[in-house]
Amino acid sequence: MSVDEMGLAMVMSVRMAPLLPLIFLLIIHKVYSKEEVVNYSHPHICALKNSSVIMSCTYTYPTGCKIEKVFWTKNPVKGEENPDLSEDPEYSQRLQYLGDKQQNCTIRLSHVTQKDQHMYCFRFITDKPNVKWTGYPGVTLTVTDLQVEAPERVTEGHNVSLTCKSSCTLTDRATFIWYRNSQPLTERRDRNNQLLLQSVRREDAGRYSCALHGHTYISPAAQLNVSYAPKNVSVSISGSGVIVEGDSVTLICSSDSNPPALNFSWFKGGTFVGSGRIYSISNISSDDSKKYKCKSINEHGEKYSDALNLNIMYSPRRVSVSIIKSGQFWEGDSVTLICSSDSNPPALNFSWFKENQSSAVGSGQSFSALQSGRFYCEAHNQHGSQRSDAVTVTVKGHLVILYISIGVVCGAAVVIMLISLWIKNRNGAQKSQVNHSRPHNGLHKTCIGGERTDPVYENVEAAQHDSNTCKPDLNSSVYENITNKKRKRI
Ligand SMILES: *[C@@H]1O[C@H](CO)[C@@H](O)[C@H](O)[C@H]1NC(C)=O
Ligand SMILES: *[C@@H]1O[C@H](CO)[C@@H](O)[C@H](O)[C@H]1NC(C)=O
Ligand SMILES: *[C@@H]1O[C@H](CO)[C@@H](O)[C@H](O)[C@H]1NC(C)=O
Ligand SMILES: *[C@@H]1O[C@H](CO)[C@@H](O)[C@H](O)[C@H]1NC(C)=O
Ligand SMILES: *[C@@H]1O[C@H](CO)[C@@H](O)[C@H](O)[C@H]1NC(C)=O
Ligand SMILES: *[C@@H]1O[C@H](CO)[C@@H](O)[C@H](O)[C@H]1NC(C)=O
Ligand SMILES: *[C@@H]1O[C@H](CO)[C@@H](O)[C@H](O)[C@H]1NC(C)=O
Ligand SMILES: *[C@@H]1O[C@H](CO)[C@@H](O)[C@H](O)[C@H]1NC(C)=O
Ligand SMILES: *[C@@H]1O[C@H](CO)[C@@H](O)[C@H](O)[C@H]1NC(C)=O
Ligand SMILES: *[C@@H]1O[C@H](CO)[C@@H](O)[C@H](O)[C@H]1NC(C)=O
Repeated sequence: MSVDEMGLAMVMSVRMAPLLPLIFLLIIHKVYSKEEVVNYSHPHICALKNSSVIMSCTYTYPTGCKIEKVFWTKNPVKGEENPDLSEDPEYSQRLQYLGDKQQNCTIRLSHVTQKDQHMYCFRFITDKPNVKWTGYPGVTLTVTDLQVEAPERVTEGHNVSLTCKSSCTLTDRATFIWYRNSQPLTERRDRNNQLLLQSVRREDAGRYSCALHGHTYISPAAQLNVSYAPKNVSVSISGSGVIVEGDSVTLICSSDSNPPALNFSWFKGGTFVGSGRIYSISNISSDDSKKYKCKSINEHGEKYSDALNLNIMYSPRRVSVSIIKSGQFWEGDSVTLICSSDSNPPALNFSWFKENQSSAVGSGQSFSALQSGRFYCEAHNQHGSQRSDAVTVTVKGHLVILYISIGVVCGAAVVIMLISLWIKNRNGAQKSQVNHSRPHNGLHKTCIGGERTDPVYENVEAAQHDSNTCKPDLNSSVYENITNKKRKRI
C-alpha cells in the first residue's frame, strides 16, 4: 500500500466511502492528515476572464524522502497516472510554477478562459516508490465574464443604478471601473459593483461597460436609453428661398425628444388648426408670419415651439400721396408730393402720373408739381406695384409772379414816359408855335388827361383807362386774361 494510494483513497472516502475498507483510512490517518500534506489557501477561485490566477499552495512530505517531481494536474482520476499540465499544449504557455521543491507549490495560470474551469491539484513524487501524493481536493477554478445590468430605458430626472455582474464572487477584490461610450467615467459614483446615476440627464445615455481595475477584460456594453419630453421644438419651412404673400408654404415641426414625438399640433394665434408633423398653408399672408406655432408631444410631456418667424414678401399696398406745400416768395408756390406705401421689400421705385395722361410725369419718392392737376403715384417693388388715389393740386405761384413782374414793368414804363413828357414839354414850350398842328401828339395829350378831341384813338383810350396808361401787349394771352378780369370787375 503506497502513500499515494492512501492519499487518494482518503479523498475517495469522502465521495465513495464504502468502496474502501475502513481499516485503510484509519491507518492513513495515523500517518498523514490531508491538510498536513498539501494546503491550498484558496480552494475556490473565481477569476475574471483573461486574468492571471495565482493558486497558492504549500506542502509537506515525510522526512527522509527526497522530492523527485512536483507538478499540477487537473481533474485527477484515482488509479491513473494524471498528466503534468505543463506538458499540455493548452497550458504550457500559460502555466508558471512559482514554487520550489521544499514546501511552496504556488502556480500562476494566465489568460484564463471558461475552458479552464476545472479542479487543479498539486502532486509530488519522491524517491520512495510508495511515497507519491496528490493534494485532493485541489483548487476549483471558476472563470467569469462581466455583464452590465441596466434598465433598458430610464426617464430623465430619475435615479438609476447599473450593476456589473459576474457569475461568481470574484476572489480578487479589485475596484470596478466604468466606461460610457468607451470613455472611462471619472466621476466616482460607484458602490462596489454598482454605478449610481442620480437624476439622470440626457447626456447620461450611452453604451456602458465595466471592468476591474488592473484587468484587461471589459464587459460587453449595455445601452442606457434616457427618455425625455420634447425639447428644442422649432418650426421650419420646407424648401428655401423667397416666400411671397399668397404662396403655399409647408411648415415642419421638429423637436428633440425620446422616444421621438409622433404627435404634433398646430396653432394659429392660439387656435388649434391641425395636427401632424407637417402643416401646409395655402395662400400665406404676411400677417401670418408670427402667428403659427407647433406643439410636440410624447409620453413624457409636451412643448410649444416659438412662433414662426418668416420674412414674407409682398407687393406695395396702402399707397398714398401726401402733399407738402412749400415755396419762396420769389419762386412762387411749389407743391411737393410724397408717395408712401407698405411693401416688403420696401418700394424704391415710384412713378408719378397726371390723371388721364398715359406717360409718367416723374419718378422718385417725392415729386414737385409745377402745374395744377390731379396726380397719383405708383409704387413698385419686385413683387408688383400699386397706384394711389389721385390728389388735386392747385399751383398759383406763377400767376402771382406774372402780376408782380407786369406791375414792375408798367410802373417803370410810366415813370420813363412821365420824365420824357416833362422833358418834351419843356422843349415844346419853346417851340409850340412851330409844332402845334401834329396829330400824333394827341395820344400823349390824352394820356396825361388832356382834351378828347380825336375819335381815332377812342378804343385805345378805353384800354388805357383800364390799364392805367400801360401799352398793351396784345400777343400776351396772360395779359389778355388780366385785362378781361379787370373789365369784368368794372
Ligand atoms: C494552510 O495555509 C494557510 C495559509 O497559508 C494557513 O493559515 C493554514 O493554517 C494552513 N493549514 C494547515 C493545516 O497547515
Ligand atoms: C510561494 O512562492 C510565491 C512566489 O514566489 C510567493 O509569492 C509566496 O509568498 C510563497 N508562499 C509561501 C507560503 O512562502
Ligand atoms: C435620487 O436619489 C437621491 C439621493 O439618493 C434622492 O434624494 C432622490 O429623491 C432620488 N430621486 C428619485 C427620483 O428617486
Ligand atoms: C487578454 O489580455 C491581454 C493582455 O494581458 C490582452 O492583450 C488581450 O487583448 C486580452 N484579451 C481580451 C479578449 O480581453
Ligand atoms: C436645438 O437644435 C438646434 C439644431 O438641432 C441646435 O443647434 C441647438 O443647439 C439646440 N438647442 C438646444 C437648447 O438644445
Ligand atoms: C431609445 O428607445 C427608443 C424607443 O424604444 C428608440 O426609438 C430609440 O432609438 C432608442 N435610442 C437609442 C439610442 O437606442
Ligand atoms: C396627441 O396628443 C393630444 C393631447 O395630448 C391627444 O389628445 C391626442 O389623442 C394625441 N393624438 C395621438 C394620435 O396620439
Ligand atoms: C388669399 O388670401 C387673400 C386674403 O388673405 C384673399 O384676398 C385672396 O383671395 C386669397 N387667394 C386665394 C387664391 O385664395
Ligand atoms: C421702375 O418700375 C418700372 C415699372 O415696373 C420699370 O419700368 C423701371 O425700370 C423701374 N425702374 C427702376 C430704377 O427699377
Ligand atoms: C379722366 O378720365 C376719366 C375717365 O377716363 C374721367 O372720368 C375724368 O373726368 C377725367 N379727368 C380729367 C381731369 O379729365
